[in-house]
Amino acid sequence: MIIVLIGYMASGKTSLGKKLAEKLNYSFIDLDDFIEDKENLSVSDVFKIKGEIYFRKQEFHYLKQLLQAKNNIILSVGGGTPCYSGNMDVILNAENVKSIYLKASLSTLVNKLMKKKAKRPLIAHIETKEEMTEFIGKHLFERVQFYNQAETHVTIDNKTKDDVIEDIILELF
Ligand code: S3P
Repeated sequence: MIIVLIGYMASGKTSLGKKLAEKLNYSFIDLDDFIEDKENLSVSDVFKIKGEIYFRKQEFHYLKQLLQAKNNIILSVGGGTPCYSGNMDVILNAENVKSIYLKASLSTLVNKLMKKKAKRPLIAHIETKEEMTEFIGKHLFERVQFYNQAETHVTIDNKTKDDVIEDIILELF
């Protein structure tokens, strides 16, 4: 089985994915890391040098490739992945794949992303909390229609990582 973790930037897809993989004895793959390895560039440099459209093409290409894997995998994808190129349909229609939306409130995301924006090209330039709130509020409004299509939704607000993992496992099995 492949478990795909989706959600906005900083919703914990990578850190929770690693923990979940350990717990279930699955392999862990992060789509951004996979693209960075293939491109030999950081995501920020892919955006800077080759542009976002190129990044989205690679994201689509490698997502399809990874969803064909036969072994047990936790796959965390980028915050934008479900929102481009019909990727959400690709995820929902793939065989043996379960999708989980890690849902976070606007204030949780803003607080986390004020500390973690540097490596994220879409928000790295934002300076104040007010601007971050305005940007993420609109962005999330556009994206949530895609995230909401995931089979399972798990909220992360005010929970420890272990609590979230427990909730994911309860939903899955
Ligand atoms: C993006 C999210 C990032 C990365 C890229 C674009 C987005 O991944 O794919 O910077 O469009 O939301 P994370 O969600 O892991 O930060």
